[in-house]
Amino acid sequence: MNRPLRALTVLGIETSCDETAAAVVRGSVPGPGAILSNVVFSQIEEHRPFGGVVPEIAARAHVELLDGVVERSLAEAALSLADIDAIAATAGPGLIGAVMTGLLTGKALSLGARKPLVCVNHLEAHALTARLTARTAFPFLLLLVSGGHCQFVAAKGLGSYRLYGTTIDDAIGEAFDKSAKLLGLGYPGGPAIERLAREGNPKRLALPRPMIGRENAEFSFAGLKTAVGHATRSKPGVSPADVAASFQQAVIDVVVDRTQFAFRRYRADHPDETPRFVMAGGVAANAALRSALARLCAAEGFAMSTPPVSLCTDNAAMVAWAGIERAAAGLFDDLSFPPRARWPVQELTGPDIAGGARRS
Ligand code: KG4
Ligand code: ZN
Repeated sequence: MNRPLRALTVLGIETSCDETAAAVVRGSVPGPGAILSNVVFSQIEEHRPFGGVVPEIAARAHVELLDGVVERSLAEAALSLADIDAIAATAGPGLIGAVMTGLLTGKALSLGARKPLVCVNHLEAHALTARLTARTAFPFLLLLVSGGHCQFVAAKGLGSYRLYGTTIDDAIGEAFDKSAKLLGLGYPGGPAIERLAREGNPKRLALPRPMIGRENAEFSFAGLKTAVGHATRSKPGVSPADVAASFQQAVIDVVVDRTQFAFRRYRADHPDETPRFVMAGGVAANAALRSALARLCAAEGFAMSTPPVSLCTDNAAMVAWAGIERAAAGLFDDLSFPPRARWPVQELTGPDIAGGARRS
């Protein structure tokens, strides 16, 4: 179980969406790890005029930026490629052109420097961040809330994940981004809504709470976004701050209700374990959501762990850490590993499932 392992030093590369990122992390399983460098170049300015991420612009910007970002991550860690034990690159899911850029760079570095390659699932990287920062033990219940994802996952071990529920339409971050656009707040919408919501009245508008009370762990946000659009057009007396506060409160009520269901299911599946809850992904940066879930965890006896905000949004330190966990288990990949636009986390395998063999 707790066999002592040599600390590994891994270079991580992340390009699945609009952050061009590279990081060097050193550590051994089960964590925590030491982040020796964590360089994140956000392309927000490139995409802002379009009100959202433009895939072709993202791919081109990754090509232009990545070499410099990798060099900086090594320089800040005061290491050269020779000091690195393995290269970890996100291989999906994400925008395919964007994923391809980082994965190809990872493969080239692996080949050129003769270092083993780990192809990382971006969702698994988000899931394992709580081990990088707080040594969170398996199993735990993960709520992954980001611009592209909104799902509950029971994390049983490395590469062993069970999906409890996801969204049937928009991801939660998408709901923030689209509602912000309707309010004329620009991109990215989540932080802008959170700021504005502090000045508004969350009870001013009676917005829908989709899925509340259902006996499953699923989400739906399309109707809520439509209601926000309706409110911004037909209720001229309501301030944008009130709309933002009412929207954010509706989202929080939905997430709390869905999490209560997920808690029940998780307890039924893991009756003998200390229940642990991890929230990760960009929307986990939302302070109002964090405190609502912290209250719920305290009431329901779940130990909660949420990575610091800088490690909740996309970064390469989480990719490097996922690389350390996989490398420590002997799970390496070869140069034929394809980039993937779609790669559900429950399709992964780990040392227990694959018997130590490479996953496909
Ligand atoms: O994990 P992430 O950086 O990228 C994806 O993998 O999607 O998440 C980005 C998403 C965006 O939709 C952004 O609006 C949202 O996270 N976000 C927030 C906040 N900060 C970022 N949503 C709500 N409140 C925030 N403070
Ligand atoms: Zn992400």
